[in-house]
Amino acid sequence: MTTINVNRRQFLSTGLKASAGIALAVSGGVVYKALREDIFSPIDGPAFQPWLDFKHPQPGVIGMVQAAILAANPHNTQPWRFAIQPDQVVVYADLERNLGSFDPFRREMTLGLGCAIENLCLAAHQQGMSADVQYQTGTLAKLPTLRGTLVMATIHFKAHDTLVDPLYDAIGRRHTNRFPYTATPIPAEFQTLLEQEASAHNVRLDLIGQGDQRREFDRLMIDSTQWIINDPEMIHDSHRWFRNRKNEVNEHRDGPFMDGVGLPKSIAAIAKMLPPTDAEKAHELWLSATRDKHLPNAPLVGVISLKDRFDIKTTLIAGRCWQRFHLQATQVGVACQPMNQPIEWSDRLAQLDRPNIAEQRLQALLGTRDWQATFSFRMGYATAPAVPSPRRALRDRLI
Ligand SMILES: Cc1cc2nc3c(=O)[nH]c(=O)nc-3n(C[C@H](O)[C@H](O)[C@H](O)COP(=O)(O)O)c2cc1C
Repeated sequence: MTTINVNRRQFLSTGLKASAGIALAVSGGVVYKALREDIFSPIDGPAFQPWLDFKHPQPGVIGMVQAAILAANPHNTQPWRFAIQPDQVVVYADLERNLGSFDPFRREMTLGLGCAIENLCLAAHQQGMSADVQYQTGTLAKLPTLRGTLVMATIHFKAHDTLVDPLYDAIGRRHTNRFPYTATPIPAEFQTLLEQEASAHNVRLDLIGQGDQRREFDRLMIDSTQWIINDPEMIHDSHRWFRNRKNEVNEHRDGPFMDGVGLPKSIAAIAKMLPPTDAEKAHELWLSATRDKHLPNAPLVGVISLKDRFDIKTTLIAGRCWQRFHLQATQVGVACQPMNQPIEWSDRLAQLDRPNIAEQRLQALLGTRDWQATFSFRMGYATAPAVPSPRRALRDRLI
């Protein structure tokens, strides 16, 4: 059998430009391995079944939870559990499914729960039910020490004239897109729509196109990624969620995976056959992707801010808002990628009780000390379609 004398990182950093990957792919041993692991058809198996199930959702509350589990969430940790009754769903944070020092206050976890709540409410409306959400209150500062589960919201349903929202249709097509985007500008009307969503949710939205503010956004994104990859605890806590091989993806049904990182299909397929990259090297690749692929060209970036980014209720609402942004974008063919490194850096500095240069730079970027950034992202027209990401089975997420 052919010996592959190159590791995954070397391949990823050179193979993107060179045709060496093609030569590798045609060598006999690699083809054998490719067929054995079925690497060229990555998006199948039980991990992707919830996306197929959603095409024919079940009636009632179960169908609403089928929508909820397809929501955006940090590192695809799917940190949610649901207790269901015919007229209500209790949404729990599954505090064990956390990102450790990467999300020390479980703020991103809470945003992800907000995303799930939004999908759940859209699905309720689709079934002709109103959804009244009672949010958990209090501060995220106390969550890190907690274990087990914590009620984050209770949603009560009542029959109502059908409230169908066109965004429901986008739930099964919404995927985070990490491919490069073209420079084609985003229409002003779409930006206005996002601003209206933000104001309906009482969150602040800064949309940034070009100019000095954009240059500082890009610098801050690169500096924060660089800082994060120099923090061994953060990259360890992030890397432990990464799933490399197809069997790992279908076993765990969570976490980031090679086919979702925005590499051309053939490159991702070959990369999966090479020895796994260690946490340091994988995160160096993340820095170069951020600098060389995600930021250049992207016509629009943005920041969602709150008065207090550790407030549980408004963080859940900000998550709902992001989910709606992404669904709105999906409806009109605009791709989205959250890029939260500056706020992850800020949270980590707060946890370590160090001077918070990240927070200062965010405040300077947005020109305000009255609001605190909680979510940053890019939008644009992608050079390739995104793929669905794995999902845990619904029964596994019920209490
Ligand atoms: C709070 C939050 C933070 C996120 N941060 C990032 C990020 O910094 N970079 C990134 O590529 N994706 C980020 N994501 C996207 C998730 O990785 C993605 O939603 C998850 O892997 C599921 O994939 P899907 O959105 O395609 O369904 C974030 C999502 C949420 C809700």
